[in-house]
Amino acid sequence: MKGRPAKRILVTAGPTREKIDSVRFISNYSTGSFGYEIAKAAKRLGLEVIVISGPTALKAPRGVKFIGVESAREMFGAVLKNVKRCDYVIMAAAVCDWRPAGVSANKIKKHHGLTALKLIKNPDILKRLGKHKKAILVGFALETEDLEENARKKLHEKNLDIIVANRLKAGRSPFGKDKTDVLIIDRAGRLTKVQNKSKAELANIIVDKVLSCNIY
Ligand code: CTP
Repeated sequence: MKGRPAKRILVTAGPTREKIDSVRFISNYSTGSFGYEIAKAAKRLGLEVIVISGPTALKAPRGVKFIGVESAREMFGAVLKNVKRCDYVIMAAAVCDWRPAGVSANKIKKHHGLTALKLIKNPDILKRLGKHKKAILVGFALETEDLEENARKKLHEKNLDIIVANRLKAGRSPFGKDKTDVLIIDRAGRLTKVQNKSKAELANIIVDKVLSCNIY
């Protein structure tokens, strides 16, 4: 007798890049390591894993469907295309909220005297998924202040099941660092503090929590 089909999870990871011209972009310091560890943890637990990743220096996790993207809009399109039959979505990507209003096909030369960039808003991928909810949704919140309050706000505004909150302390970055502290808050408001764990350990804890959520 055949077993039940594996549950499917979509994980986003890494930064996005928003082009200014053919040689420059706006981005952030995300290394993608958290998302990749989550994908590996999910794979070890027998899930079918789709990874949608912005540009990183990491090797794609083994045994997953891997889709590389560059901009937030490309990530949005890839997520919408692949989310349909997923049971879980973990948005670990550091999506740029803004992009330049126009992209110059040629390199902008110094003598053009560019002193300001006009930016426009990117789509909020997670918020869109929360509006038409068909899977368990997990978001990340990277905050410099009011960590718990801001994370709870994002949990409700984006209609999430779980949010993982990470504080960015002055002079200390969680990006790329191995050991880190997080708060995990679920839909019922329960808070779990996890301290001084590697991203691999945290990934196991997060995936375990996500799998214990009820499927839609
Ligand atoms: N996110 C997203 N699409 C965006 C921005 C963020 O899907 N355009 C997701 C991130 O992947 C993360 C969560 O939303 O899981 C929270 O991202 P964060 O950058 O902490 O918050 P924002 O919603 O961008 O709000 P703010 O920048 O004001 O803190």
